[in-house]
Formats: sequence, structure tokens, C-alpha cells
Amino acid sequence: MTTKDRFINRYKTGDTPWDTGKPDFNLIETVNGHPISGCRALEVGCGTGDNSIWLAQNGFHVTGTDLSEIALNKARKKATEANVTCDFRLVDFLQSSIETAHFGFIFDRGCFHSFNAEDDRERFANNVANHLKDAGLWLTLAGNADEDRKGPGPPQRSARDIVLAVEPYFVSRSLGNGDVGFIVPGPDMTGGENRNQENNEFVDWSFYHAKWLNSG
Ligand SMILES: C[S@@+](CC[C@H](N)C(=O)[O-])C[C@H]1O[C@@H](n2cnc3c(N)ncnc32)[C@H](O)[C@@H]1O
Repeated sequence: MTTKDRFINRYKTGDTPWDTGKPDFNLIETVNGHPISGCRALEVGCGTGDNSIWLAQNGFHVTGTDLSEIALNKARKKATEANVTCDFRLVDFLQSSIETAHFGFIFDRGCFHSFNAEDDRERFANNVANHLKDAGLWLTLAGNADEDRKGPGPPQRSARDIVLAVEPYFVSRSLGNGDVGFIVPGPDMTGGENRNQENNEFVDWSFYHAKWLNSG
């Protein structure tokens, strides 16, 4: 099964431990700490839309893309309920472009890190750069290969994996500890809590890049 089919299937079966139902705190901290509000923002792999909706509520003009029509329909319903406008589109970001390119800010939580092949990660980074204005910003949240994992969790990437893919197109502003926020089910496989909640450790990457001028 391809990565694409796996994601589509996981939304069909409800196996979506990343779907916390709230906006991501790394995103909120980054947006609040930088003067970027008000621009066009793209969320790649937006899932059921909580982060896109938060961005729209905070002054961005938002496009969200995903592979799963099930996820996108949930996102559209949530946006209607929240009374905000987001443009949610079925787009495979490895294969296609979005015609309204030239975003000021691109966000992905757990999309870039899901590609096992180095070529795919670089293609993704290149496509992100192609969709950004010069000096536009990309925040990506990714699992960290250094995490001593005892249970399930997001894909793990080394800093080298990330830098190799992004370096041709971006200057990295910061590589810090983040939290992808993967929910680990309880012993009866229901409910569950964030895998890092117990000791309040942030074990993932929060990686913030600015597009090189004249790249992509
Ligand atoms: C770990 S989930 C995170 C979803 C969402 N960002 C969130 O925070 O809840 C990764 C998402 O990326 C989407 N995705 C994976 N590959 C993609 C691709 N090539 N193009 C667009 N979306 C993709 C998946 O369908 C999935 O919704």
C-alpha cells in the first residue's frame, strides 16, 4: 500500500491518533512570536482542519490541502460551524501545485515527515518553496529520530534527514523541540492521551525555515 492509500484508509477506519481536535500549540507560539499574520497561508496535509481554522480566525487567508476527502469534508463542516472561510482542497502535494501560489506562510504538522524516501522529502520541500513568496516562511512539525520510543508515535526523522531536504531551498531559522501531539490509546484502546504528556517533554522537531531568495 502506498503512503497515500494508507492515509486515505486511516481516515476511513478512524485510525487518526494525530487528530486532537484542537489547534497546535507550536503553530500558535510561532505565529504569535512573528509578524506574519494577515498573509495568505497554506496548510499542507490539513487533515480535519483545526489548524487551518485557527489560522483563519487569526487573520490569515487560508488554503488547506489533503489527500482524504473524508478529512476535508470534516474540515469544511468545522469551518462552517466556526463561521470562518477556508479553501479546503483535495490535492496530492507531491504531485500537483495549487494555482493560487505565492503564500507568505506554509504550515505542515506531520505531513513532510511521513515520506520515507529522501527524494520525496526533497520534492516536498521544493514544492513548498515554489508556493512561497520570496522570504516566505515554512513551519514543519516532525517526529525526532532521537526519541527513545517505547510505544507508538509519529515517523521519526533525524535533523540530517530534514536539513538535506530543505537546505537547497530554505535557510533554517530555528530547529527546536516541538510536539507533534500523537495520541496514544489507553490500555483498552479507547480514549488516550498525548504520548509526551506524562513528563511534559517535547520530543519532536519544530523546524522553522525561510525561503532563500531566488530559490524555487
Ligand atoms: C499526521 S496527519 C496530520 C493531519 C493534520 N495536519 C493535523 O494536524 O491533524 C498527516 C496528514 O497529511 C496528509 N498527507 C499525506 N501526504 C500528503 C500529500 N502528498 N499531499 C497532501 N496531504 C498529504 C494526510 O492525509 C494526513 O491528513
